[in-house]
Amino acid sequence: MIRIVSSILIMSSWKNKIFLGDCLEAIESLGTELQSKIKAIYIDPPFFSGQDYTIKKKGVASGKNAASLTEYDSYSDVWDGGLEAYLSFMNERIEAMKPLLTEDGSFWLHLDSHVMHYAKVMLDRIFGYENFVNQIIWKRTNSPKAQSHGFGSQHDVILLYANNAEEFEAKIIYRPHDKRALRPYSYEDERGRFRLIEIEAHGIQRTQNRKQFEWRGRTAPYLYRKETLDKWWNEGIIYTSRNGRYSKKQYLADVKGIPVSDLWLDIPPVQGASAEYTGFTTQKPRALLKRIIESSTDEEDIIADFFVGSGTTAVAAELMKRRWVVSDISELAIDILQKQLLDIQNSDDEKDSPWMYEIVDS
Ligand SMILES: C[S@@+](CC[C@H](N)C(=O)[O-])C[C@H]1O[C@@H](n2cnc3c(N)ncnc32)[C@H](O)[C@@H]1O
Repeated sequence: MIRIVSSILIMSSWKNKIFLGDCLEAIESLGTELQSKIKAIYIDPPFFSGQDYTIKKKGVASGKNAASLTEYDSYSDVWDGGLEAYLSFMNERIEAMKPLLTEDGSFWLHLDSHVMHYAKVMLDRIFGYENFVNQIIWKRTNSPKAQSHGFGSQHDVILLYANNAEEFEAKIIYRPHDKRALRPYSYEDERGRFRLIEIEAHGIQRTQNRKQFEWRGRTAPYLYRKETLDKWWNEGIIYTSRNGRYSKKQYLADVKGIPVSDLWLDIPPVQGASAEYTGFTTQKPRALLKRIIESSTDEEDIIADFFVGSGTTAVAAELMKRRWVVSDISELAIDILQKQLLDIQNSDDEKDSPWMYEIVDS
């Protein structure tokens, strides 16, 4: 039995959807309504970890126990039929999700080392090896647990596939310069901080039959044509060193930041003290979903998460003005999601976005 909770977006008659139940049933109940309409699907399913998960909530007791945290069962990641049962569960559901994607859509599968290699093979078969885009490493903790065997695990893996690699375009995301990246910007003039970019060939570049020519009193194997160098000179972005060598100035203000690669070391996990903490053990940080949503969708696009847990994807999508469809089998998880959506509705940022909920039994 599937219950649907919908929230209405002001911009159109579109209804965001929360399905409570097995995501396979949720997808089946959608029929063809969203076929080829979803721009990105992110899923963070059970990892085949062999653990049962709980959620920590403030106790309702009074007196000295009032503020203590009580643990409630949230979901189980123990599989009676072992790995085979897990993989067949995932395979059936991911196969059902694929037709929902737009031609230029993308699929993001969040796992860790337990089964990620089996999942890679499964996704190569479902989406096609040629549609594999990235294996993203997300550093999920700074303090891995000590292991009696091997090394402490510090990262999760997100496998990214395009529905059709020829159509899919991930937007480049820039992250702010950190201390290390700022180090080369040690020069300064009236326009601000800058670093030096070589304009002469060095090492192997020199040996590639590069012709030397004279420019402004210095003969060198320049990497650029004379006209380009003249243009830069007139723009005032050529730096002359004390020994008469030229370089190009790159101003910090002109650089957007550092392009994000497949190594995501800069997004910390959700901590107990953080404002977004819900007590849901496997809650992912909003910043992680924001990065995924930003790189793969535009405003008003639809994003889906069929194992939404505490609701991170829906909350991030809502804050980023995307439409969304989510599901989870746990009533507790959906309660947490609804509470977060209410908080957004009541927050100062979202005063103009009237939220309505309806619970539909199907
Ligand atoms: C790792 S958690 C997701 C955490 C989520 N990304 C977050 O930030 O809170 C996995 C979720 O999958 C849900 N789940 C397990 N089996 C499911 C199924 N068949 N259909 C839908 N959800 C399922 C669990 O209830 C759990 O909430």
